Amino acid sequence: MLICSTLQLLYVLHICFFLCWSPSRLMFYDADFMKMPFSDNTFDAIFALEATCHAPDVHDCYKEIYRVLKPGQCFAAYEWCITESFDPLNQEHQRIKGEVELGNGLPDIRSVGECLEALQLAGFEVVREKDVAVGSPLPWYFPLDKNQFSLSSFRVTAVGRFITRNMVKTLEFLHLAPEGSQRVQAFLEKAADALVEGGRQHAYKKSLSTKILSL
Ligand SMILES: C[S@@+](CC[C@H](N)C(=O)[O-])C[C@H]1O[C@@H](n2cnc3c(N)ncnc32)[C@H](O)[C@@H]1O
Repeated sequence: MLICSTLQLLYVLHICFFLCWSPSRLMFYDADFMKMPFSDNTFDAIFALEATCHAPDVHDCYKEIYRVLKPGQCFAAYEWCITESFDPLNQEHQRIKGEVELGNGLPDIRSVGECLEALQLAGFEVVREKDVAVGSPLPWYFPLDKNQFSLSSFRVTAVGRFITRNMVKTLEFLHLAPEGSQRVQAFLEKAADALVEGGRQHAYKKSLSTKILSL
C-alpha cells in the first residue's frame, strides 16, 4: 500500500503504466498522514521522504505513523531540520529560514532535537540517525545553485531561470497560465536561493542550514 497526495499518485501511476506493473500488486490512497484511514498495526514498514516536515505537528504525525505500523517494525524518513548552528536571535538566519518555509510550504522548520524527541515520545526507538549532508562529496544544495552551470539542472541556472521567468510571464499574460503564476515562480526562486544560502553558511559552521536527517 502507498499513501500519497494526488500529484504523487499521478506520478506513481505514470511510472507503473510504463513499467507495465500489475495494478493488483499496489493500492493507492490519497490520504492525510495526520489521520490515516487504516486500522492499528497495519504496515510492515513505512518510509517518508521530505514529507513529514510538512506536518503541522510532528509529534502527532509520528504518533499516527506509529499507530499504523506493526509492533517492532521500522519507520525510515528524512526530514528537513535546522541545525544547531541556527541562531534564533540572528535576523539573517530568520530571514533565510522564513524564505525556505514560504517557498516550500513548510510550517516552522523544526530542529533535529525536536524531531528525535517527537519520535521517542511517539513510541519509537531511534536506531539510526545521521546528517547525510555532512561528509557528502558534493554539497546537497549544489543543484539549486544558480551560479553553477549544469546541463542536467539547466532550469535552475541563471539562464534557465531567466527563460522560465519570461515564459511564465508570457503564459500568464496570455491567460494560458493562472493568475499569480509569476508570483509563485518568484517565491520559488527565492526559496531556492535561501536553501543555497542556508546550506553554504552551515558549510562554514556558523549559521543556519536545512539538514537532511535520516532516522
Ligand atoms: C516535498 S514533497 C516530497 C514528495 C516525495 N516524497 C518526494 O520525495 O519526491 C512533500 C509531499 O508531502 C505531501 N504532504 C504534505 N502534507 C501531507 C499530509 N498531511 N498528508 C499526506 N501527504 C502530505 C505533499 O503532498 C507533497 O507531495
